[in-house]
Amino acid sequence: MSSSTRLALVTGATSGIGQAFARRLATKGYDVIAVGRRQERLDELVAEFPAGQIRPVVADLSTPEGLNRISEICRQEPITLLINNAGVSHYMGFTDLPTKKASELLQVKVIAPTLLAHAAAPGMVERKNGTILNVAGMLAFGATAPLGEAAGRATYVAALSHLVSLSLALHEELKPAGIQIQVLCPGVVATEFHERQGMDLSAIPRMSAEEVVTASLKGLDTGEVICAPGVEDVTLLGRALHANLQAFSGQSPKLALRYRGK
Ligand SMILES: NC(=O)c1ccc[n+]([C@@H]2O[C@H](COP(=O)([O-])OP(=O)(O)OC[C@H]3O[C@@H](n4cnc5c(N)ncnc54)[C@H](OP(=O)(O)O)[C@@H]3O)[C@@H](O)[C@H]2O)c1
Repeated sequence: MSSSTRLALVTGATSGIGQAFARRLATKGYDVIAVGRRQERLDELVAEFPAGQIRPVVADLSTPEGLNRISEICRQEPITLLINNAGVSHYMGFTDLPTKKASELLQVKVIAPTLLAHAAAPGMVERKNGTILNVAGMLAFGATAPLGEAAGRATYVAALSHLVSLSLALHEELKPAGIQIQVLCPGVVATEFHERQGMDLSAIPRMSAEEVVTASLKGLDTGEVICAPGVEDVTLLGRALHANLQAFSGQSPKLALRYRGK
């Protein structure tokens, strides 16, 4: 591979947003390592592009073997763009959610993106070149929103919030090393995501995966750290972060008055 080749690793490239990223990046000339569990989907994607441009890697990121395999690739290969996109939602009342499903969700949306970023970042820092893109969602800002269609989503919402906090903190930490970070926060997107858990959202207006990718890549060009494709008033995001920082700065080592006395 020549030093000018751009190499992306996209998790969850077998459908939806990840597949749209893989296609768009390959069309733009990137070499792409496409990760997912469904081999046949990866094979179809590979066949759309010149031989060797998309490299399929079958891995289950909810397992230690799968995660180790992709982590090793992130450590060894000169990845210029890591896209942590794979995800499952498992919307279900918290007390009904089987431990196995909760664990799978946390492995795929919290542990895997964190450890893949951790594996890729040292090489990026050394090369002074790299971008880490974490796919979260607007629900990261919606923990207290009325439940409605998305009832039973506490673990999923918390996982998305992790990705937002991770990304913001990594941006602060890795910015001096020239590493770019983006957390992508789509609203509802027309993919297989909800269907796969038996939810039919086809009646709800939804953004396309291609539009989400367009927003994300434009956001990278303009240096957006939080990319929210469906949010028109971008100051809302700035105000949300500002409010967080104000609460953080509002603390002191003294016990607050309301906790003193009997
Ligand atoms: N659709 C929405 O409304 C929406 C909104 C906001 C955020 N998001 C986020 O967008 C991301 C992509 O979702 P999508 O909408 O494109 O849904 P999707 O079409 O269902 O795609 C999910 C991808 O994740 C992969 N994946 C799931 N579990 C995996 C595992 N254990 N190991 C490896 N890969 C795994 C799937 O591949 P395999 O099954 O082949 O492994 C698939 O490629 C998710 O992280 C989701 O949280 C989606």
